[in-house]
Amino acid sequence: MEVIIQPTYEELAEVAAEIVRDALLKKPNLVLGLATGSTPIGLYEALVRMHRTDGLDFSNVTTFNLDEYVGIPPNHPYSYHTFMETHLFNALNIPAENRYIPQSTTVGHEEFCEWYEAAIVDAGGIDIQVLGIGKDGHIGFNEPSSSLGSRTRIKTLTQSTLEANAPHFGSTVDAVPKMAITMGVGTIMDAKQCLLLASGESKAVAIANAVEGAITAEVPASVLQMHPQTIVIIDEAAASQLKRVDYYKQVYANKQELLSQDH
Ligand code: GLP
Repeated sequence: MEVIIQPTYEELAEVAAEIVRDALLKKPNLVLGLATGSTPIGLYEALVRMHRTDGLDFSNVTTFNLDEYVGIPPNHPYSYHTFMETHLFNALNIPAENRYIPQSTTVGHEEFCEWYEAAIVDAGGIDIQVLGIGKDGHIGFNEPSSSLGSRTRIKTLTQSTLEANAPHFGSTVDAVPKMAITMGVGTIMDAKQCLLLASGESKAVAIANAVEGAITAEVPASVLQMHPQTIVIIDEAAASQLKRVDYYKQVYANKQELLSQDH
């Protein structure tokens, strides 16, 4: 696992956006796995800026979102469909038919989940999967105890996740959908590269457990230690519980030096 620690949220978002930009310049038909939540917003803003000011072209890109609540319509103000439209899709030139988000209101969820998995495979697999992390170490909506080999399916949200999401639903836990469709941990692990983003002290324990703790279904993000191409991009506050901060910074500095010699 590569751990990149940046002084601020803005800088971590910029580093993540540069990784996506460089991959897109190499592969115009990039397949991106996308996350919601407050953490990736800075990355999305940076990509929108690169599109507007540098002409970064997304016209051949395909996207797959990690998850969506069950039981609210796509046009609900706090659906992940609406989130993606607001924070990314309405500002980029990704064709509508190339954007996939789990459909929470379809009947026949099992068939839908199988179809979603097949659509990812048909697109050639996910090149870069963007991930946030829950305070309990969840990725997507794979709550603690999720099978580390799980595929896209319906998950029941934990009380902690319901409370974390309550501010979006009028601050009432009861109003938060109790279930979601989410890519599985195994689905995420199939991505060629994962970018795990985290900001702020509230994520410090989750990051320490995910990066330096035991690999366990109790902390689904910890399985990323088994992924050959995961980059964890965090700010100082989210890094504050890590034991090897100095080493990660040294690794990153050395890598930057090597890269500058290459150019
Ligand atoms: C939800 C989402 C996750 C996200 C997490 C953290 O549970 N399903 O994909 O990583 O929230 O969100 P935030 O970035 O707002 O802290």
